[in-house]
Amino acid sequence: MIKIAPSILSADFANLERDIRKVHSADYLHVDVMDGVFVPNITIGIPVVQSIRKATDMILDVHLMIDRPVRYVEQFCQAGADIVTVHVEADSEENTGRALDLIRAQGKRAGVVLKPGTPAEAALPFLDKCSMALVMTVEPGFGGQKFMEDMMPKLRRLRQWIDERGLDCELEVDGGVDPVTCMTVIANGASVLVAGSAVYKAQDIPARIRELRGDAK
Ligand code: DX5
Ligand code: ZN
Repeated sequence: MIKIAPSILSADFANLERDIRKVHSADYLHVDVMDGVFVPNITIGIPVVQSIRKATDMILDVHLMIDRPVRYVEQFCQAGADIVTVHVEADSEENTGRALDLIRAQGKRAGVVLKPGTPAEAALPFLDKCSMALVMTVEPGFGGQKFMEDMMPKLRRLRQWIDERGLDCELEVDGGVDPVTCMTVIANGASVLVAGSAVYKAQDIPARIRELRGDAK
């Protein structure tokens, strides 16, 4: 069964609790954390994750687009994240491994994220520790960008490695997922689909969430 993770980047931050309730039929709530250094945008941080935790019992999938995330992963776990993903480009291999260990030591699910220019191989040293591997299908930083279909070979390679090794690792895609491109990513092995604008711009959000899962209307 395909899981959907609506991104609150497309929500109204002044009405966040209301907008989180609108997506309660989804599987995860995707929280985009940006620091203005790793990506050219700034969003939300630890205090907001703490408040979201109090407002919902959805599984919080926290995507850290921050420089040297090893410095902050424990605080995001303690703030209430259930899944914390870190970019492999954001620090050395050693520190990325350390960040994953710290997340797991908090009893949370850890994952790595690959920017569009980063090859699938960059995830390999970490896959054993990962409950999630996330393939970006846009350049991280902003919602509403065009889906990059040329990321599909990378997605297929990761799907193959996860299956060959029998790993308990979900394969997530993030960026430009809509009712058309969802079919492409599902066909190429994704099991969790992040969607921001496609969810929040829909007239009927629960119907859109079902549609993105690839279910019949
Ligand atoms: C982009 C974020 C995404 C973003 C996706 O850097 O990581 O999660 O919200 O937005 P859409 O679905 O609109 O492309
Ligand atoms: Zn994201």
